[in-house]
Amino acid sequence: MTQKFMTRPKVSAFGNDPLLVRSTFAQFPSGVAVLAVEAGGEKHALVASSFMVGVSLEPCLVAVAVQKSSETWEQIKNAASLGVSIFGKGQGHLTRKLAGKDRATRFEQVAIDVGEDGAVFIEDAALWLECSVHEVSEAGDHWMVLLEVTKLGVGENEPLIWHGAKFRELVNAQSIDVV
Ligand SMILES: Cc1cc2nc3c(=O)[nH]c(=O)nc-3n(C[C@H](O)[C@H](O)[C@H](O)COP(=O)(O)O)c2cc1C
Repeated sequence: MTQKFMTRPKVSAFGNDPLLVRSTFAQFPSGVAVLAVEAGGEKHALVASSFMVGVSLEPCLVAVAVQKSSETWEQIKNAASLGVSIFGKGQGHLTRKLAGKDRATRFEQVAIDVGEDGAVFIEDAALWLECSVHEVSEAGDHWMVLLEVTKLGVGENEPLIWHGAKFRELVNAQSIDVV
């Protein structure tokens, strides 16, 4: 068998250079989630690429790392129910909008659906989870948040991929056989 991609692994000390860390981590592909809640007549959104599923199946847990400086986290951390939407194809502009500096206008012209307990979902997303906060622990300058999934659903839109600080779309839905 011919090995096609034979480049030598290379690692070096990084002297805690935050730019180097960011640009290296940016090469890790992920989906982009938004945690959203309506409480006291106001809507709150926290966009996160650190979101991950499959932390535990029983109980059903997902995770997200939230910057300790996040003002939105302070507003949503005690919510009974949190909506999580994973952005789909064509929704890159919505992630920028929902993560925008002006928190009061984040939801302007964003199509949403609000659940009975205040969980907010983005229409046409790739998938949706309704969650409650299970556990929060310290992780350096972030909170490591475990969410328990109480409801879930899959949309028809394909997920948006965040890679190299850019949004990418899946262009070929065929799976690749690994031999
Ligand atoms: C693509 C993208 C990914 C992000 N990922 C995270 C993340 O994983 N964790 C986080 O705390 N903030 C993340 N942010 C930043 C937050 O969405 C938000 O802008 C920040 O928390 C400041 O707003 P706030 O004070 O209202 O929370 C991300 C922003 C963007 C645009």
